[in-house]
Amino acid sequence: MSAAAASPVCPQPLRPDGPVEIVPGVHWIGAFDPGLRSFDTLMKTANGTSYNAYAVRGSDGVAVIDTVDAAYADTFFVRLEAVAGYDEITRIVLNHLEPDHSGALPELLRRAPQAEVHVSPRGLQILRTILRDEFGLYRITPVTTGATASLGGRTLRFFTTPNVHWPDTQCTYLEEDGLLFTCDLFGSHYCDERLFDDRVGDFRFALEHYFDRLMRPFRSFVVGALDLLEPLDIAVIAPSHGPILRTDPRAYLRQYRKLAGPRFSFGGGTDKTLAILYISAHGSTARLAQAIRDGAAEEPGVRVSLFDLEGGDLHPFIDLVEEVDGIALGTPTINGDAVRAIWELLAMLVDIETKGKLGAAFGSYGWSGEAVRQVEARLQGLKMRLPEQGLRVKLEPSDAEIEEARAFGRRLAAHLTGRAVPREIDLAELAPR
Ligand SMILES: Cc1cc2nc3c(=O)[nH]c(=O)nc-3n(C[C@H](O)[C@H](O)[C@H](O)COP(=O)(O)O)c2cc1C
Ligand SMILES: [Fe+2]
Ligand SMILES: [Fe+2]
Repeated sequence: MSAAAASPVCPQPLRPDGPVEIVPGVHWIGAFDPGLRSFDTLMKTANGTSYNAYAVRGSDGVAVIDTVDAAYADTFFVRLEAVAGYDEITRIVLNHLEPDHSGALPELLRRAPQAEVHVSPRGLQILRTILRDEFGLYRITPVTTGATASLGGRTLRFFTTPNVHWPDTQCTYLEEDGLLFTCDLFGSHYCDERLFDDRVGDFRFALEHYFDRLMRPFRSFVVGALDLLEPLDIAVIAPSHGPILRTDPRAYLRQYRKLAGPRFSFGGGTDKTLAILYISAHGSTARLAQAIRDGAAEEPGVRVSLFDLEGGDLHPFIDLVEEVDGIALGTPTINGDAVRAIWELLAMLVDIETKGKLGAAFGSYGWSGEAVRQVEARLQGLKMRLPEQGLRVKLEPSDAEIEEARAFGRRLAAHLTGRAVPREIDLAELAPR
């Protein structure tokens, strides 16, 4: 590869180290990372990213909101120094403590030790780990929804919005200007030094791709955050990655509602939904799947569907699993393991919210039969609830075993409607029988 090909493709900012005014007295003081091509191992970033940090000036002092990745601390400090002296900093707000935002914090605190630091209560725990021996040197005040901090003529109001991305996440609202600092929420990995949504290139795909990779696993928390933030009078959404959103901020709220809402816009109704997804080499697991479906379909108020994973791309099933109330996964044991398609599906479920969904496993086996237990352990790892011990049948199911599978299906369905007494199995019960 030539040197030219390896260099960052994003044009450099006109004033590479300059702050950018958002409204009088509020500046962007972040950093551009045009060369980044992979974020958090979770997603590719064809356009690099930016780490947005902000300085807000009041009559009593300056608040710094978020910092940048440690690798970009130097440009952050240059921009900060252009708008404020370190002795003017009265408050530092950390909306989220992932390293891409907290990287420059230890050094900022060394330079402005007088500043009062505001984090969420969960953020406090993380901050303790980040600052280690230095933690006790600073004034750290945890804040929750409703708390405010005055800068003199300007007021910061805090909103605890957990899990939009980590448990510590919060948003900060500058009341007088209607500026909402949302950190990862509403972010895009899209580096463009023109900075504002009305000036940068077409970043719509980046905003949605970012949602899919980073926010989707927490979509119920995104909805919770939107409920909290929507009543605010918002003039500008200032996230910590990508463009600052000042053109019709409500449109971004609406788009986030849509992205966090149901994947399928048609049908539905009030029935509970159970998806049975299976794979079968010789047909035995398939017969169990069919019988489980027949049994579950006997339960009123449950819509049951059956899918052979051999017959399609796995990706669409992720959307399906996200929407249904429960899944039952069927796999034979092959070489002491569940089959690959099942593992691939299970690996992909990390992209969606699975906590609390009903999960179950079943399958045919020849002699050792490990697969069902392995799948159950993974479903538990995904924080699904497993009210029934998995169903295992040796080789071809007998008539009695088919009947057992129907009963298994009936019980799963009854757990979905709430007619069955809830019961969680624990891992000890999953030991080989
Ligand atoms: C290549 C191969 C490897 C297998 N390895 C195991 C194994 O390690 N443990 C086991 O219990 N059964 C093993 N079996 C047996 C299958 O689990 C058994 O035939 C089962 O009934 C297949 O279910 P199916 O008809 O749904 O494919 C193996 C079968 C094949 C074809
Ligand atoms: Fe994050
Ligand atoms: Fe981030």
